[in-house]
Amino acid sequence: MTSILITGGQGYVGSTLVRQLAARGARVTVVDNGLVPGARICDPLVTHVAGDIREPGEWQAALRGVDAVIHLAAVVGDPACGLDTDLAWQTNYLGTVRVAEACQKAGVTSLVFASTCSNYGATEDDEEVDVWSPLNPQSVYAQSKIMAEHYLLSLGGSALTAHILRFATVHGLSDRMRFDLAVNVMTAHAVTRKEVAVHGGRQWRPFLHVQDAARALQSALGNTSPTLYNCGSGEENYQMAQIGEIIAREVPGTRVVVQEEASDPRNYRVNFERILRARRFQRRLGVIDSVREIRHAMTQGRYLDFADPKYSNYLTAKDKLTTPAATAPTAVARVFSHTTSV
Ligand SMILES: NC(=O)c1ccc[n+]([C@@H]2O[C@H](COP(=O)([O-])OP(=O)(O)OC[C@H]3O[C@@H](n4cnc5c(N)ncnc54)[C@H](O)[C@@H]3O)[C@@H](O)[C@H]2O)c1
Repeated sequence: MTSILITGGQGYVGSTLVRQLAARGARVTVVDNGLVPGARICDPLVTHVAGDIREPGEWQAALRGVDAVIHLAAVVGDPACGLDTDLAWQTNYLGTVRVAEACQKAGVTSLVFASTCSNYGATEDDEEVDVWSPLNPQSVYAQSKIMAEHYLLSLGGSALTAHILRFATVHGLSDRMRFDLAVNVMTAHAVTRKEVAVHGGRQWRPFLHVQDAARALQSALGNTSPTLYNCGSGEENYQMAQIGEIIAREVPGTRVVVQEEASDPRNYRVNFERILRARRFQRRLGVIDSVREIRHAMTQGRYLDFADPKYSNYLTAKDKLTTPAATAPTAVARVFSHTTSV
């Protein structure tokens, strides 16, 4: 029986991946420190270990007998990382170093790492970027992911093989729901307010359904040499105004309000041919499917509290910062350090 350890397995992508792997009969160990309110998937094949990736002593023993590690744990998103940049660097860069070292110590030979297309940042024109294109990160989130990639790529030649996937922006329903992701929150606004705001609108972004993101992580497990792929699909590159239009079509009566000023400097249109050719990875779902499933869930009365901070990595971290005991810049790091409740 395959045995996989997933860091950050209570998160948005992680909880979907845990379900998929357990359904396939894999034994799964989740290591998560509950930095954000997550979902613990209950299944006889799934074991949960409360632990911080920065402190391998808390979870190193769980690596015994593991075939591969899928490393998802991170402070995720530009806004959340901006709130406490120390914590972001410690987690996203140093945490990745710690995970790789722990793998090497335990004799695990395969490590899959979730990176991000945010690494491309602000591109100048509408040309597609690929893995060899210049990177122009706009945030500590992307900078820390790039440094983690560099470190993992430098392991080439060692017994540990790293497989890096630069994910498009993910969307869709998951056990741990996030409403700080563009498609999800814009759909929620359309359903509840009959209005969706588009900031700027011309900027390109690629998108990927959370079920497909989880499948892609599994497909990376079969690699025998180090790999770096963009993970998404060419036809799911959209300008943000197009996302507004798709949602307005699917949620009748929705008005699209375009605000001139783009609130996010990121603009990247990404080429995904390499993962298609090398891994035969093809998306099964698209933005339209997420809009429909979120609309359906909300019309059934679910997620009407979508604005609750628990669905947003930034608002969760901000809440922790504004608690009376936590006012210094590194307060989130202190509050979150060694958090084991989930
Ligand atoms: N969601 C997206 O659109 C997207 C896009 C590109 C890349 N990614 C990457 O995919 C991965 C998963 O993202 P997500 O959307 O599921 O985010 P998420 O915030 O829902 O999940 C991250 C998980 O990591 C855990 N975690 C954070 N710090 C930890 C620590 N020090 N020790 C142990 N656990 C810790 C959190 O508690 C959480 O469960 C991340 O690495 C992210 O950078 C996500």
